Amino acid sequence: MRATNELALLGLAATQVLAAPQQQTSLRGSVHAHAPAPHAWDDPESDTPLPLVVWHGLGDNYAAEGLQSVGELAEAAHPGTFVYYVRMDETAAADRTATFWGNVTEQVAKVCADLAAHPILSTAPAVDAVGFSQGGQFLRAYVERCNAPPVRSLVTFGSQHNGIVDYKACGPMDWLCKGAMALLHGNTFSAYVQGRLVPAQYFRDPADLAPYLEASNFLADINNERALKNKTYAANLASLTNFVLYMFADDTTVLPKETAWFEEVNGTETTPLRARDIYTEDWIGLRELDRKGGLKFETTPGDHMQLSEKVLNQTFADYFGPYGKKFGKGETMGEL
Ligand SMILES: *[C@@H]1O[C@H](CO)[C@@H](O)[C@H](O)[C@H]1NC(C)=O
Ligand SMILES: *[C@@H]1O[C@H](CO)[C@@H](O)[C@H](O)[C@H]1NC(C)=O
Ligand SMILES: *[C@@H]1O[C@H](CO)[C@@H](O)[C@H](O)[C@H]1NC(C)=O
Ligand SMILES: *[C@@H]1O[C@H](CO)[C@@H](O)[C@H](O)[C@H]1NC(C)=O
Repeated sequence: MRATNELALLGLAATQVLAAPQQQTSLRGSVHAHAPAPHAWDDPESDTPLPLVVWHGLGDNYAAEGLQSVGELAEAAHPGTFVYYVRMDETAAADRTATFWGNVTEQVAKVCADLAAHPILSTAPAVDAVGFSQGGQFLRAYVERCNAPPVRSLVTFGSQHNGIVDYKACGPMDWLCKGAMALLHGNTFSAYVQGRLVPAQYFRDPADLAPYLEASNFLADINNERALKNKTYAANLASLTNFVLYMFADDTTVLPKETAWFEEVNGTETTPLRARDIYTEDWIGLRELDRKGGLKFETTPGDHMQLSEKVLNQTFADYFGPYGKKFGKGETMGEL
């Protein structure tokens, strides 16, 4: 297995290790070699693990080594796991560009179509999913809007579920990232920026909600913050078995880091999810999920995406694996 520092490459401003096309093919080939036969899950005794869907973060790409090593760990934890890496394009460079540029509504719709048409994923009774950084809220959108195949356990690491007021740190030479950030601080809520710049579509300033509620192309919709609530979103999210929200304890990249737990931070005060309308009025099914014991709040040390192999191993052991796996009630966040 690869070293921990390579796992830290996932996410914003990562130094990209782009695999050569030849290598990408062989990596995917090796995963396909473990693909279960169709209907392997029909047998209740089957210990065939559910497929795993992985959505990478800003500045990363589906073929990157750090990401692939996460898939390899999942495969090692539950041999036979078919791992699918979400991509906007088969070309790694174009897939990376799409983490900065694009209309997230269209990106999520593409993933819905890709998963529903996938020969293995579409025959599974369910899939598990892990989203890194923005990939986490995008996978949540997949669940809310489509969820076919349905997700059983959704794990998000350092995701921006309640939006961001800022992103820190682009690599010094990362002009793609810098260009995007400059635009983010310009006309965030213009139709031009909302339709094209990915991070702008989950920008949310609690001190200035009006333009957000008016124009947010993604987050205000997926969080059901507008007057008209979409009941499908809540029903689908509540249908998860586990929704595991990891916050990086020392995250200095995502502002505020508490967005990973759906908390609202307005500069002076932090409001926990359970005290917010989105929860108490159950706009998106989180309260129902919590009632079932399916909502898990976790912290892991380190800065944004400094993921340890130990935490990944534990997560895979706890939440992924065979369809027939039993889950305890688990702890919910006692100390909020
Ligand atoms: C709610 O979301 C579902 C799933 O995306 C969609 O089919 C439906 O049209 C939406 N309903 C409303 C009222 O927007
Ligand atoms: C994003 O794409 C959707 C679907 O094509 C479209 O309806 C919407 O207007 C687009 N958003 C913006 C802000 O351009
Ligand atoms: C934060 O929220 C509290 C309570 O609602 C309010 O008193 C305070 O003025 C807010 N601060 C900012 C900077 O908006
Ligand atoms: C994680 O699991 C893999 C095999 O599944 C093992 O080789 C590796 O040593 C584990 N790492 C840690 C830090 O426990």
